[in-house]
Amino acid sequence: MTDLPRRVDEAADLVTVALDELLPRADGPESRLTEAMRYAALGPGKRLRTYFALETGRMLGVDETYVLRAACALECIHAYSLVHDDLPCMDDDDMRRGHPTVHVAYDEMTAVLAGDALQSAAFEILAHPDTHPDGAVRAELVARLAGAAGARGMVGGQMIDMLGVREDLGGVARMQRLKTGALIACAFELPLVMAHAQDAERHALLAFAHDLGLAYQIVDDLLDAEGDAAAMGKAAGKDAAAGKTTFVTLLGVEAARERLGLLKTQTKSHLDPFGPRAEFLRDSVDFVLERRH
Ligand code: IPE
Ligand code: IPE
Ligand code: MG
Ligand code: MG
Ligand code: MG
Repeated sequence: MTDLPRRVDEAADLVTVALDELLPRADGPESRLTEAMRYAALGPGKRLRTYFALETGRMLGVDETYVLRAACALECIHAYSLVHDDLPCMDDDDMRRGHPTVHVAYDEMTAVLAGDALQSAAFEILAHPDTHPDGAVRAELVARLAGAAGARGMVGGQMIDMLGVREDLGGVARMQRLKTGALIACAFELPLVMAHAQDAERHALLAFAHDLGLAYQIVDDLLDAEGDAAAMGKAAGKDAAAGKTTFVTLLGVEAARERLGLLKTQTKSHLDPFGPRAEFLRDSVDFVLERRH
């Protein structure tokens, strides 16, 4: 296997440095807001969505400075989604990435506003001419990220999750596609747009993203059921306690693991048309699915 952990770490560092530059700073009383945004976005996340965006950009031959900005925009949306997901009115979590959640470190109103402003920052970054010289490409990037983040994507999935409706497997899969899958797919969509990729490449990568996103959430659910809160940096055992329907509460741990094993092979097979060019993406499937946090 390629030296994936080092490659993932290097990509994460690139994104953290770029985000630090891109996120606003303020001197006045609103500095509380910009500090909370930085606390949320610059904390030690795995940055796997941005890793996938950068790796896909490399495979498709897109200028890395452009992809890096798009990846930062995506990470801002992800960070905002976690700040709001942790709020008392949602999952009510105190720890995230090994640190107190934003509403604990600051307060609830600051957490709501920091999430809001991280979302705005994402679109400000994408729409800036430094993200791509072609305005039509920038407009397409904005539309893709907005679609993935909104009612037909992450926020729609969060609504289904929060309603706590008893779902069957198909229902949980749909919720996952919206809640987690849409932003993961965006990690591939954004570089695909920048590369003006052909339909065949696009379909193959989006099929890959689909299965990867599904597997990603099954791992998250398994870690919630079985994982170690200290290693994960967030509470475990919350889903069952909150009466959430997840792949694990529906299937049980054993069957969820089996499903994950099958998904792993299926996910990689979507990369066949890319041959050796997709070496790093292919290897990253094992890396992502074997994660312990
Ligand atoms: C957690 O995402 C929430 C899910 C959608 C599963 P990550 O596990 O990618 O969180 P960070 O960014 O590494 O903290
Ligand atoms: C959250 O899913 C997905 C988001 C869109 C933020 P979870 O609620 O399972 O994420 P964790 O387990 O708190 O990271
Ligand atoms: Mg949640
Ligand atoms: Mg949560
Ligand atoms: Mg979870």
